[in-house]
Amino acid sequence: MTRKDVLVPEQELQRQREIRREIARRMALLPRQPLAFVDTYGCQQNEADSEQIRGMLAEMGYGFTEDENEADVIVINTCAVREHAEMRALGNVGALTHTKRRNPDQIICLCGCAMQEPHMSKKIRQSFRHVDLVFGTHVLYRFSELLAQVLDKKKRVFETPDSQGVIAEGLPVARKGKLKAWVSIMYGCNNFCTYCIVPYVRGRERSRDPEKILAEVRELVAEGYKDITLLGQNVNSYGKDLGLDMDFADLLAKVNEIPGDFLVRFMTSHPKDASQKLFETMARCEKVAPQLHLPVQCGNDRVLKAMNRHYDRATYLDEIRRLRALIPDIVLTSDIIVGFPGETTEEFEDTLSLLEEVGYDALFTFIYSPREGTPGAKMPDPMSREEKNRNFQRLVALQNRISAEKHAAYVGKTLRVLVDGKNDDGKHTLTARTDGGRLVHLDGDESLVGSWQRARITGSSNWALFGELV
Ligand code: SAH
Ligand code: SF4
Ligand code: F3S
Repeated sequence: MTRKDVLVPEQELQRQREIRREIARRMALLPRQPLAFVDTYGCQQNEADSEQIRGMLAEMGYGFTEDENEADVIVINTCAVREHAEMRALGNVGALTHTKRRNPDQIICLCGCAMQEPHMSKKIRQSFRHVDLVFGTHVLYRFSELLAQVLDKKKRVFETPDSQGVIAEGLPVARKGKLKAWVSIMYGCNNFCTYCIVPYVRGRERSRDPEKILAEVRELVAEGYKDITLLGQNVNSYGKDLGLDMDFADLLAKVNEIPGDFLVRFMTSHPKDASQKLFETMARCEKVAPQLHLPVQCGNDRVLKAMNRHYDRATYLDEIRRLRALIPDIVLTSDIIVGFPGETTEEFEDTLSLLEEVGYDALFTFIYSPREGTPGAKMPDPMSREEKNRNFQRLVALQNRISAEKHAAYVGKTLRVLVDGKNDDGKHTLTARTDGGRLVHLDGDESLVGSWQRARITGSSNWALFGELV
């Protein structure tokens, strides 16, 4: 792929903008403003895509609702990473037959990773007749054009081309909050971990131009955003396709130089590419949050190899040691898969011992879900569901203990927090985040939302901290 094939030409982006303007002119003639509802499944990448979908809808004259019954357009942005995520989205699509019966003009759109799977879009075509528009991840920037086709021709539209992937710059973005923002720095994945569908539905790795990223961050900081997360499936591969002599650590250092009062985080880092240079850059840059999500997946070398992860347990543990030597109070999180095909309970116990050795602050834990078209789906998988569930429960119990210990160590400390919202737990009025991203419940006036404060930690649980403003 040459850069020219990756970047959507400005002329094409302009054509899409004109379509949005044309739709907006039509919508302005309606007796009331049309409303849209965008429902998102999956990871932050999908959340970021949905913010662009909302941005395009806003430009086309739509307002927003969270109520499916009053929506004129519904967009469901799907995830394919595990069967559960796919089924949840499809269950909701099924339920929309009722809203559509009451409102036959309602337009139902499906997009995102699951729609990029041929068997899924086929299923929608055949069994979900009330769905009007299906579009894949590679044509997100053409959403306005595809919606216009549905509006004009009153026919179903399916657009899910296979592609290596493109980059469409300058799409409008309607962000949900005023404090935290996602910024995609790259798209796609080249790693082909044997369990994972993402490379098949998101195309090859491609990096945005650093100037575009830096301009977006500058703008966000000027608008008052305080917590910015750089996104990519493997941010450590950033820049490899640009030929610019700029890697992810260099980009991070450039973001750090942007004047303003903000923190920058990133996800996800792949352990095979996490460099000493990255760790040193994190340690040196005061705006880079002391936090790293470094998914290990499992603690056994045979299973890591079968997963095609390209690192072993010792290498991973050495990375953690080197990182902690530079940033002792770093908050560490990870993803774990239990029950990968062929993993024995003895091998699974290596994951438990790795958890003990690392001491993660928190974990995202999953039971393996076979994904059609991946090598994992063809591997023999003899372990029973019950045994996988038992192992999963052991994992969760161990991590709960470790998280509780980690959190208890905060009690008595006073630290900086960013007050990020009103609390709905009925006990405290505000929620806040430490620089490392841990959740703090505290009391204070609503007007503090959006400000940095000092908080003394007075209590903890396995999932949160409790504190008071000082
Ligand atoms: N690019 C990121 C993660 C993307 S998916 C990375 O490499 O870390 C997020 C997490 O979902 C993965 O880290 C993995 O733990 C989990 N996951 C992916 N495919 C899965 C599958 N088939 N079954 C269960 N969990 C899966
Ligand atoms: Fe999936 Fe592996 Fe790529 Fe992450 S690095 S998206 S787990 S294939
Ligand atoms: Fe799901 Fe696609 Fe993200 S499969 S996890 S929404 S990249």
